[in-house]
Amino acid sequence: MKKIVLGNQEMSCQSDETLLDALLRHEVAIPYSCRQGVCQSCVVRSLDVVPPLLSQRGLKDVQQKQNYFLACKCYPEHDMEIALSQQASFFTEGTVVGKALLNTETVLLSIQCNDALDFYAGQFVNLQRADGLTRSYSIANSRLHATELTFHVRRLPGGRFSEWAHGDLQIGDTLKVSEPQGLCFYLPDRPEQNMLLIGTGSGLAPLAGIISEALQQGHTGDIYLFHGSRDREGLYWIEEMQALQQQYSNFHYTPCISNGLVPDGFAQGRANDVAMQALPKLNAWRVYLCGHPDMVNQTKIQAFLKGASSIDIYSDAFHVTPDLTPSSATTTIS
Ligand code: FES
Repeated sequence: MKKIVLGNQEMSCQSDETLLDALLRHEVAIPYSCRQGVCQSCVVRSLDVVPPLLSQRGLKDVQQKQNYFLACKCYPEHDMEIALSQQASFFTEGTVVGKALLNTETVLLSIQCNDALDFYAGQFVNLQRADGLTRSYSIANSRLHATELTFHVRRLPGGRFSEWAHGDLQIGDTLKVSEPQGLCFYLPDRPEQNMLLIGTGSGLAPLAGIISEALQQGHTGDIYLFHGSRDREGLYWIEEMQALQQQYSNFHYTPCISNGLVPDGFAQGRANDVAMQALPKLNAWRVYLCGHPDMVNQTKIQAFLKGASSIDIYSDAFHVTPDLTPSSATTTIS
């Protein structure tokens, strides 16, 4: 057991619990989301000892040098004095300027930020409401709109943030918006490269941003999108994607349904299986995978076995936190 000092509060941290769990057990109001070391909403700072190496993975070197670390990845090796730094990564405020249902379980939120964000299409931000509840959501638009960001918020039963965003959040309300994060994004460095994008549910959000950015940047390689859900009701933006397909000859869109009746123009099966069947080889392709962690993990292997290089596979697995609140994201390059 280690002693943790926060201001004038002294706490214990058991050897088998993370610092985040210890702080929550002592009812410290610390923001957190993914519990995976990705969203960086649980950043705190050690005021005395050097934090464990693992707890600093993914932070900028300037943060590491100042002993910032992730509470959810920290098993303290010494007694520590810490300071919370929940405001550090939030630098702008946003106002809700649009709210519309995409389907019965997903709402499109448009947020006008006070400051322009320098982001890459496909990245995510942390949204924080007034009481500190924080969740990560992928940006669904391209870099063309630096101040108005759109998000696809999927409602999960019992999800504190998503239920609130669907029910109570109103146009005109404000949220804090963090700096953009994540490594699953589009760079226009190889415009001739073919791209495969597979998403489930609201995993379409970052992919829509990437597709929009790539087409605006004049990407010349083929772009294949497979968007999957169990049933027709779980899909959305079908007409918009079909219109994009009409407009750009190198963009190909396939909506996929894994259960039930499959209307004309839809493919039957899981999006990753449909994609792998449709595209025999992925050598030299760039691959983006966003959505359910099982799909992401399985498809990474499928894509690799089809010839995609591991450095060309980008993924963003949408994890659900234990209170059933949805959160993006485990963003990895693998
Ligand atoms: S990085 Fe710790 S909660 Fe996300």
